[in-house]
Amino acid sequence: MISSSSQAAAISPVPDTGLVAMVPRVNIHAFCDNQQTAETIQSAASDRRMSRAHITIQLGGIPAAAQVYAGQATPNVLIVESHGSRDAILAELGQLAQVCGPSTKVVVIGHLNDVILYRELIRQGVSEYLVAPLHQLQIIETVANLYHDPKAAPVGRVIAFVGSKGGVGSSTIAHNIAWQMSKRFATDTVITDLDLAFGTAGLNFNQDTTNGIIDALGQPDRVDATLIDRLLTKLGDKLSLLSGPGGVDREVNIEAHAVETILDAIRGSVPCVIVDVPNMWAPWIKYTLTHADLVVITATPELASLRNTKNLYDMLRQARPNDEAPKIILNQVGVPKRPEIPAAEFGKAIAAEIAAVIPYDAQSFGTAQSNGQMLFEVAAKSKAAEALDGLAQAIAGGDKPAKAKGGFSLLDKFTKLRKK
Ligand SMILES: Nc1ncnc2c1ncn2[C@@H]1O[C@H](COP(=O)(O)OP(=O)(O)OP(=O)(O)O)[C@@H](O)[C@H]1O
Ligand SMILES: [Mg+2]
Repeated sequence: MISSSSQAAAISPVPDTGLVAMVPRVNIHAFCDNQQTAETIQSAASDRRMSRAHITIQLGGIPAAAQVYAGQATPNVLIVESHGSRDAILAELGQLAQVCGPSTKVVVIGHLNDVILYRELIRQGVSEYLVAPLHQLQIIETVANLYHDPKAAPVGRVIAFVGSKGGVGSSTIAHNIAWQMSKRFATDTVITDLDLAFGTAGLNFNQDTTNGIIDALGQPDRVDATLIDRLLTKLGDKLSLLSGPGGVDREVNIEAHAVETILDAIRGSVPCVIVDVPNMWAPWIKYTLTHADLVVITATPELASLRNTKNLYDMLRQARPNDEAPKIILNQVGVPKRPEIPAAEFGKAIAAEIAAVIPYDAQSFGTAQSNGQMLFEVAAKSKAAEALDGLAQAIAGGDKPAKAKGGFSLLDKFTKLRKK
């Protein structure tokens, strides 16, 4: 027998109380071992509470999942079903653990009402064990609870992009990385353009912008996932934008706590939040940079840029000693006839590694800009696109399996998450 609450949740049909929370904008993959479970998850997927999530369902159980993720990153939530015995389930999960990213939440559906198995799975880092047959609301409730538990880590990661001076290409890089996160890594992504007067996100994606961010900044106490949903402009299947209309008609006073509320609301329901931070200095800018999960500083290879990058880098390292160091991007490298500081010297002066060097490529970037497209769309094979793709991989890389094959266990993953 498994613990009484889990048992009740597993077996009894759950009436629609309307109390089950919305599932955030996460990727959910299910590998079922049984047509009936696949159909139940399919009907869960069409429920209103699942409307933000992306769900794919296939058959083949845990072995199929282990095979698929040997070649690709695991989603935010992985639901796997097995008809096997306790030992068979544990052995199959051992295979899966070798390819499972540390932030993926694993839900196991079994056919055994076995408390020892339940405890062992939870001990190994599985988020939940459910006993089939299931009601669709149990699936929704289980996934929603993975994120609404006050102790659960937030759904999203906030990545702030800032330039070391004006015009270095920080916004362009932020937009391209966001696009790549949503396409190549199939991660739901929101770009938040905090450059209210001069922001270029709308132009770069050839989209009319709205008042979105100004509305949100003006009523921070009302900001929640539902309001943010209404204010987003859709740029693609998994890419949205929160921006202002651009222009200098209005003067908007930005308060650090308003930015904090907005970013917290977005990161509560979206896995990747790209923040375009304008090149200026104010308390709310410092707040945004110090509180991001990752900061990406874009610089050009000349002296003023080097000085500003070093100041920003040192301030952020000191203010957040337990966080990943800011990533430094050297952009517009190789402008004809311009004397430049070589990347190695630039890195040495800051005592940091340069995460990416992006060549100056007026034609590709110019074409992308005038078409309102991303560099990956107009010059996918260019050196600049290659460098940007490497950067996107490095940024997404936080979700790769923690160790090489053979050594990683779900238990490691569990321990790491609890330490957070
Ligand atoms: N590697 C590159 N090669 C050529 N042009 C580039 C490159 N990177 C960016 N650009 C171009 O530089 C210009 C400025 O880029 P962008 O607006 O992204 O900079 P920014 O740092 O956000 O500027 P701002 O300080 O105005 O916010 C754009 O026209 C962009 O297309
Ligand atoms: Mg900009």
